[in-house]
Amino acid sequence: FSDFLTDSFQRQHTYLRISLTERCNLRCQYCMPENGVDLSPKTDLLSTKEILNLSKLFVKEGITKIRLTGGEPLVRKDLVEIIEGLNELKPMGLEAIGITTNGVTLSRKLPQLKQAGLDQINISLDTLVPQKFEFVTRRKGYDKVLRSIHSSIEHGFQPVKINCVVMRGLNEDEICDFVQFTQDNNVDIRFIEYMPFGGNKWNSQKMVTYQQMLDIIQSKWPDFSKLKDKDNDTSKAYKVPGFKGQVGFITSMSEHFCGSCNRLRITADGNLKVCLHGNAEVSLRDAMRNDLPQEEMLEIIGAAVKRKKKQHAGMLNLSKMPNRPMILIGG
Ligand code: GTP
Ligand code: 5AD
Ligand code: SF4
Repeated sequence: FSDFLTDSFQRQHTYLRISLTERCNLRCQYCMPENGVDLSPKTDLLSTKEILNLSKLFVKEGITKIRLTGGEPLVRKDLVEIIEGLNELKPMGLEAIGITTNGVTLSRKLPQLKQAGLDQINISLDTLVPQKFEFVTRRKGYDKVLRSIHSSIEHGFQPVKINCVVMRGLNEDEICDFVQFTQDNNVDIRFIEYMPFGGNKWNSQKMVTYQQMLDIIQSKWPDFSKLKDKDNDTSKAYKVPGFKGQVGFITSMSEHFCGSCNRLRITADGNLKVCLHGNAEVSLRDAMRNDLPQEEMLEIIGAAVKRKKKQHAGMLNLSKMPNRPMILIGG
């Protein structure tokens, strides 16, 4: 395994998240600042070729999983081409290509995406109430997202994960409805603790913790029980015995999982971001555009990885640390 992708705490990074765009067709309150974001000029964003060249470099160094994020990755016109290109890296060691999407335009593109080599789909959905969907996302689209969830299952994507950011006063009353959804649907519903990012007006009162969610669910289903987690999973897995699907908790705030972090990120404008939190970034785009030889690119990457902190700064510190808005990171 490559030394360049091993940090000073012996964490080996095998999972690369690439943001394809800063744009989105929704305006989720926890992700997009109220007044939007300043978009980078198009020439500042990585091209198809640059994305594939960087991916190849990372796969050669030991990345086995690539997840495409955004903004909303499906707004990128060359998405199928990108997935086809990544698919060609599979003989070199890439094992899985995933996408995290809001699902609004996913349904009709599924056959093409599958054909191109996409393996895993995570869809964001924070409410099962259509009017509330419009409030949270500041746009319409609830029916389309549900259709995409069902067609992803029908197309054989395994598992289909649903990401639900839980916020007090907004959707905590729907936690049991989401769990109920797993009775007949083979999905993995993941409840995510609300995290602070640039411009999202996070405060600790709005956060519903893992333990609070567990209490709510176990008072309805006392036999709701823990499953074994996979290595490096962001979520803690649970299930109501007998239900088709399962449930997970992404406890970034109350019980961080930095110790088993295997993730690196590339922003749409080509910066390597070694942790979701904080502003530590280095431009790989500029390095590429300056025609740096691969060995020097690897030195830059390796140095950034070595600067990665042991863990994030803790709940209350995070909310004061400068960082991009979530829409410009991709999760
Ligand atoms: P899988 O690849 O299916 O395991 O999904 P994932 O959980 O890695 O990614 P997804 O894009 O579905 O993100 C779900 C939630 O996990 C989002 O809120 C992300 O911000 C959060 N998340 C993903 N990676 C990290 C991480 O490295 N640290 C923290 N704290 N949260 C993360
Ligand atoms: N806190 C927690 N999760 C978030 N996401 C977006 N913003 C936040 C936040 N502030 C989630 C979305 C998406 C994933 C990439 O990140 O639900 O599914
Ligand atoms: Fe778009 Fe997803 Fe952010 Fe919502 S959470 S604004 S769908 S990127």
